Amino acid sequence: MPVAPTQTAKMLERAVSSRRASPHNDDDDADADAAAAADESKTKRHLPFSFFTTRLTFYFARLGPLWPCVAALSLALILIFSLAFHSRTFVCVSPHDPVYRSGFFGFDALESDFGSLGVPWCRSKHGKTVEWTSKDLLKGLEEFVPIYETRPIKNNMYGMGFDHSFGLWFIARWLKLDLMIESGAFKGHSTWVLRQAMPETRIISITPRHPEKYLKKGPAYVDGNCTYFAGKDFVDFGSIDWGKVMKKHGITDLSRVLIFFDDHQNELKRIRQALEAGFRHIVFEDNYDTGTGDHYSLRHICDQSYIRGGGHSCFKDSDEARIRGRRKKFWEKAVDIEELCGPDEAWWGVRGYMRDNFNHSNKPITYTEHFQNSRFVESILDVYWELPPVAGPSLTHQTRYDPARAPPPIIEDGRYGLFQRLGLTRLDTSVFNGYTQLVYIEISRQ
Ligand SMILES: C[S@@+](CC[C@H](N)C(=O)[O-])C[C@H]1O[C@@H](n2cnc3c(N)ncnc32)[C@H](O)[C@@H]1O
Repeated sequence: MPVAPTQTAKMLERAVSSRRASPHNDDDDADADAAAAADESKTKRHLPFSFFTTRLTFYFARLGPLWPCVAALSLALILIFSLAFHSRTFVCVSPHDPVYRSGFFGFDALESDFGSLGVPWCRSKHGKTVEWTSKDLLKGLEEFVPIYETRPIKNNMYGMGFDHSFGLWFIARWLKLDLMIESGAFKGHSTWVLRQAMPETRIISITPRHPEKYLKKGPAYVDGNCTYFAGKDFVDFGSIDWGKVMKKHGITDLSRVLIFFDDHQNELKRIRQALEAGFRHIVFEDNYDTGTGDHYSLRHICDQSYIRGGGHSCFKDSDEARIRGRRKKFWEKAVDIEELCGPDEAWWGVRGYMRDNFNHSNKPITYTEHFQNSRFVESILDVYWELPPVAGPSLTHQTRYDPARAPPPIIEDGRYGLFQRLGLTRLDTSVFNGYTQLVYIEISRQ
């Protein structure tokens, strides 16, 4: 049964606050703890405030001349602990590292669910990772929020929201390559994002319907320094003679080109095509989680039992089934075991299917094929990096993606001050609803 938004919001509030409160972090347990605490508060006698102040004065009086030292020591201890706790945000630790996920009081609620669910990811050949740190991401956010506020297309339903716009802008600006190619432009919002990142760089935009067509109906963006393969000039990325096009654009080194795919095509197909042409830097907008989405994604491919959080069980009495069932109540995109598993307990891809082209085409794949696909991808990957959600769900009020299947947010729950300082409270909460794990990969030199 669908859950009403207000009810979902209440459940979310409860889930988030209970997660912070309970160190062993089982949602049910946290609810039970909260109920027990409420009951206790009913029976507990409330002592007057004067009782505590009197006790405190008495205690310090007994310490005599030592009390300033005790007070200073306590203050220093509190400072050291709070610094140790918060500095986590500013160090570059792999989000897949358990240390990254451990809270100050041990593993939090997300962590206990991660034990069974986890975040699947693609292994790179030599374990290389990106150069940027969470500190760089925070600095980037500070810069990007005012830029985003000037976007021409305010309502970009079916296109990118805030998280992915930031991710694309950040990556494009960090890499500073010589040419940017996008496949899937819709009204042109992503073209505008690329332009904000690199004001002078040439863009090639491939999309069946020219964004100028949307201008007749409302806001759209058409770029002046862009070659459009659109409308009657549309040619699919896989059918373009890239040698010829690169020559025409004066590009001799294809590792100086960034490709952005938001065309909902099988990502394995797109990787093979990019590899054949010689491109190396790719961003996929929708890195759908296993069991979800309209095309075969990198996450689908790399979801293997040898990856933490990968490989799944279709057994109805398993821990995973219970956790999934529970999380489905809170998060729209969470999938329970019934949705995850197709005939013959096929859980890979989407219920054992490899989807393509907005799910207009889909074909069953065997587990062996699925396994071979992951080995192929791992054999050509130098870097794999998933954009974390910009901020925790209690800050953004989003209830779609399940935080147990995503890297920890750039701004963690509870850091409202930072969220506000970065100007994120000025944005409509609907812009935070489109997070689907945008991913950047670097293909090794062939
Ligand atoms: C989700 S929208 C893109 C949203 C856009 N990037 C944005 O941020 O607003 C997907 C786009 O892919 C286009 N598309 C469909 N098939 C395509 C193909 N084979 N190659 C490129 N684009 C395609 C659709 O027409 C649509 O405009």
